[in-house]
Amino acid sequence: MSLRSPKSFFAPLAVGAPAPLREIPARPSRAIHFFDPSNEKMAAKVPQMVGTVDVLLGNLEDAVKADNKVAAREGLVKIAQSTANLGGQSSPTQLWTRINSLDSPWALDDLTTLVPAIGDRLDVIMVPKVQGAEDIHYVDRLLAQLEAKAGLTRPILVHAILETARGVAEVESIALASPRMQGISLGPADLAADRKMKTTRVGGGHPGYLVRQDPADGDINGPRAIFQQDLWHYTIAKMVDACATAGIYPYYGPFGDITDVVACEDQFRNAFLLGCVGTWSLHPKQIEIANRVFSPSVEDIRHARRVVAAMGDGTGAVMLDGKMEDDASLKQCLVLVELAERLAAIDPDLKALYDGITLDD
Ligand code: GLV
Ligand code: MG
Repeated sequence: MSLRSPKSFFAPLAVGAPAPLREIPARPSRAIHFFDPSNEKMAAKVPQMVGTVDVLLGNLEDAVKADNKVAAREGLVKIAQSTANLGGQSSPTQLWTRINSLDSPWALDDLTTLVPAIGDRLDVIMVPKVQGAEDIHYVDRLLAQLEAKAGLTRPILVHAILETARGVAEVESIALASPRMQGISLGPADLAADRKMKTTRVGGGHPGYLVRQDPADGDINGPRAIFQQDLWHYTIAKMVDACATAGIYPYYGPFGDITDVVACEDQFRNAFLLGCVGTWSLHPKQIEIANRVFSPSVEDIRHARRVVAAMGDGTGAVMLDGKMEDDASLKQCLVLVELAERLAAIDPDLKALYDGITLDD
């Protein structure tokens, strides 16, 4: 028999480790802003960013040079220990880290250094290049042992990056691998390489990936509209389903062209519409885009509240502006209304915006 008892799922994996959470808190995480803790200029900006972004992530993996790996790890410890209000349950800004990949020379030291030193401040550990559930099981047990040793009272959550072909094929088992699983992000750059896609970018579309309108009157050289297609649609949709099934949260990932704020916003919005709750930010410019895109618009909330009001006890169907609304459209509206409530609770500007919405024409 290979099945684990469902009861054991919620027992700590080491004596003295905190009990796993039964539900992953829906903390706002519209932008996960990456910084390199070995870069003194970037590190110096961290304290003033607390309260301005939902998540600050100290990156130890790719984009940190091999020679700087130890400095990045130690820099993150210093920042977490010296920055007031960063990370932990009551902080306005969560503290996450991205450790090095499990087959690298640094991953073990990342975990054994960070958990004892700053485990009480670290909300989520992002694990890159996840291949399957076995990677999550490894981190799960090791974290439990380290938490027990450090006397932590709250489990550190785990987030997987979807950036290997096998990871995509096994995304459901990754999402369901542990009660620690908080969410999954798309990792388009590594995923493209692992799949042997023929792109050379970090996230976003490609002008060559398109469909073309049929020729008019058989004239293949006549005017024919072309529509660029989204390279990431399949992967994001698959990730969203896996996350929703497991009760965890899906995210877009990096958008590397910092100057192209328009295409960045489009990619983020597609992910939001498909069910993602947030994205990565590689530059302060992208925080503003993410916060806007991953917060429901005034128009959406106004419409959603009108549907809620019109639907009364939530059963049956009503006509509103010529459109049929029923319990299924009501449920969609409630997703938006509840998200707006959670965001208003942490963002006074959004609260004022949503509070100012009137339902009359
Ligand atoms: C992110 O890590 C990516 O590879 O896209
Ligand atoms: Mg990557």
